[in-house]
Amino acid sequence: MSFLSARAMTGGYGATDILHGCAIAVERGEIAVIVGPNGAGKSTAMKAIFGMLRLREGEVRLDGEPITALSPQERVRRGMGFVPQVNNVFASMSVAENLEMGAFIREDDYSETMEQVFSLFPILYEKRAQAAGELSGGQRQQVAVGRALMTRPKLLMLDEPTAGVSPIVMDELFDKIIEIARTGISILMVEQNARQALNIADKGYVLVQGRNRYTDTGEALLADPEVRRTFLGG
Ligand SMILES: Nc1ncnc2c1ncn2[C@@H]1O[C@H](COP(=O)(O)OP(=O)(O)OP(=O)(O)O)[C@@H](O)[C@H]1O
Ligand SMILES: [Mg+2]
Repeated sequence: MSFLSARAMTGGYGATDILHGCAIAVERGEIAVIVGPNGAGKSTAMKAIFGMLRLREGEVRLDGEPITALSPQERVRRGMGFVPQVNNVFASMSVAENLEMGAFIREDDYSETMEQVFSLFPILYEKRAQAAGELSGGQRQQVAVGRALMTRPKLLMLDEPTAGVSPIVMDELFDKIIEIARTGISILMVEQNARQALNIADKGYVLVQGRNRYTDTGEALLADPEVRRTFLGG
């Protein structure tokens, strides 16, 4: 079974279902990418997998264990890390304080993990005493990713980590995400820069109106004329 296996997810907000039988699986050390139009339910699927949204139907398993009934905090303990699409740093707190907050569930010494985050993102070490809200967009995203890494997740979930950053900063962030995956951490990422994201993806999901439309390797999706025409702008 896949490391993350979310099956037949149906649910939404109030009485309105947004997800209709959506399925997402991620293997160990793999980069999986979810793309799709605005409002397709990508963030909703991420929230459901992380336990921020109660599913009406379906099941989420991590490492074979059913976790559908667990709270987000319990899922963090099981090895999930989540960087939400919005409000993903504490703007008035320093970079170092943000990382410390990320380690909230840990009772052991997390200083080594903090050093690992600083070696992955050296600029964060330089700016460690600065308020996160004063950083550039790309640097703030590094803080958000670093914060999620502080619990040493086995699955790192990123909702649009490159939103609002320049193409150069986007490439740099993708390189870091590849580096994280090479350490054995599975990545599940939502991206609006669909082409670039599928380029680094082992597996891609195209979601439309809360349903799986296409699932294949990143390479195959990029080569599929129908996917290109409909979702990648030709
Ligand atoms: N908290 C909420 N309450 C009610 N409806 C919501 C809420 N969040 C999202 N929705 C609705 O659910 C649908 C899917 O939203 P979602 O944010 O999951 O889409 P998305 O694919 O992440 O879009 P985007 O590319 O814009 O981030 C949309 O119609 C949206 O208006
Ligand atoms: Mg979204």
